[in-house]
Amino acid sequence: MKHVWEGKEIILGVTGSIATYKAVEILRELTGRGANVTVVMTESAQRFVAPLTFETLSRRPVLTDLFTLDYNKHIGHVAAGERADLLLVAPTTANTIAKFAHGLADDFLSNLYLSTTCPVLLAPAMDREMYAHRAVQENLALLKARGVHTLDPEYGELASGLIGRGRLADLSTILQIVEDLLGRQQDLTGETVLVTAGPTQEPLDPVRYLSNRSTGKMGFAIAQAARDRGAHVMVVSGPTSLATPAGVLRTDVTTAEEMYQAVLERLDTTTILIMAAAVADYRPSTRAPQKMKKQETITIELLRNPDILAEAGRQKGSRVLVGFAAETEDLLENAREKLQKKHLDLIVANDIRVGFAGETTRVTMLDRQGRVEELPELSKREVAHRILDRVVVLRRGEHA
Ligand SMILES: Cc1cc2nc3c(=O)[nH]c(=O)nc-3n(C[C@H](O)[C@H](O)[C@H](O)COP(=O)(O)O)c2cc1C
Repeated sequence: MKHVWEGKEIILGVTGSIATYKAVEILRELTGRGANVTVVMTESAQRFVAPLTFETLSRRPVLTDLFTLDYNKHIGHVAAGERADLLLVAPTTANTIAKFAHGLADDFLSNLYLSTTCPVLLAPAMDREMYAHRAVQENLALLKARGVHTLDPEYGELASGLIGRGRLADLSTILQIVEDLLGRQQDLTGETVLVTAGPTQEPLDPVRYLSNRSTGKMGFAIAQAARDRGAHVMVVSGPTSLATPAGVLRTDVTTAEEMYQAVLERLDTTTILIMAAAVADYRPSTRAPQKMKKQETITIELLRNPDILAEAGRQKGSRVLVGFAAETEDLLENAREKLQKKHLDLIVANDIRVGFAGETTRVTMLDRQGRVEELPELSKREVAHRILDRVVVLRRGEHA
């Protein structure tokens, strides 16, 4: 897994704890594995260990002051967050956990946390009673629900002399989780992922159509995440206003029939098919050649569109096949039935009463082995990665 580390940009946030000195060892291990590490220290952290130690070992300036724009350092809190592959905060104090949970932004690290979209891993360390306090536990729960990864502290002797849970997680545990999070970005190398995205439009006449509220954001988030994890990615997209992620091969279609053709033509080379498009089930039986004139009532006959997912299921072979189910009632029951009927490996069930077109979503994943995983409301980017985490396991034939 060595390639996972090389050239990766990690931000190591260091806060003010008796365990601050352990961050020095974490930094040495990260750089030793080939990662580029930028250290950000809180004011309290600098009371425990001097920035010079981190500066020497990272060979980079240590970022401490929000209000000093040193252009020689070429890096402000937004720029630092933008290029990062991971933000690791170790140790994380109760204070910093509270700031992150409630969006306070009064120093470099808390501003950076709010402005980055990269994965975030926190390794809390504190006294036993502090860690057990409801305020800390509720703040951690809030962060977890937003997709932040947190490591449980270890049980053992604490600086206070007490025995309990509060010690910074073991170095090897921290390194393993960091490797897993970075490794996400490499684990689809060699795969060809075909993603369908957006709505379809079924024309009634030259200017009118039947469609739905899908924006394509979920499909495009999956395409981008799959690309970041090393896959060759194709998107077959219905009409959306979204930009094509760099490096992704895009085919635009309008109707369900066009999407059906485009998917089947690409199936041969596809190893993972993820059908996130909201395909119209029906189309008008005729398309008026001219704009339809006003009448008191109009009856439109609708025909069933071809079922892309069912056809892909019939031609499945060794491919991994992922479908989506958007429902307003009996979500899990309907999803389970669709999973079986269409020979899917995984179905992502989306209760559209919670949301459909927004930046975040709340889904439940069901697989053929009957495993059900309910995710909290997360960004579509994070949901995309969680789906791909499952796809990787299915692709390897492991059903963990
Ligand atoms: C000797 C000493 C050890 C401390 N150890 C911890 C600790 O392990 N965990 C913690 O949450 N706070 C600890 N604190 C308290 C924090 O340093 C304090 O809450 C500070 O405001 C944290 O600021 P920061 O989150 O910006 O780094 C300690 C304080 C002192 C004086």
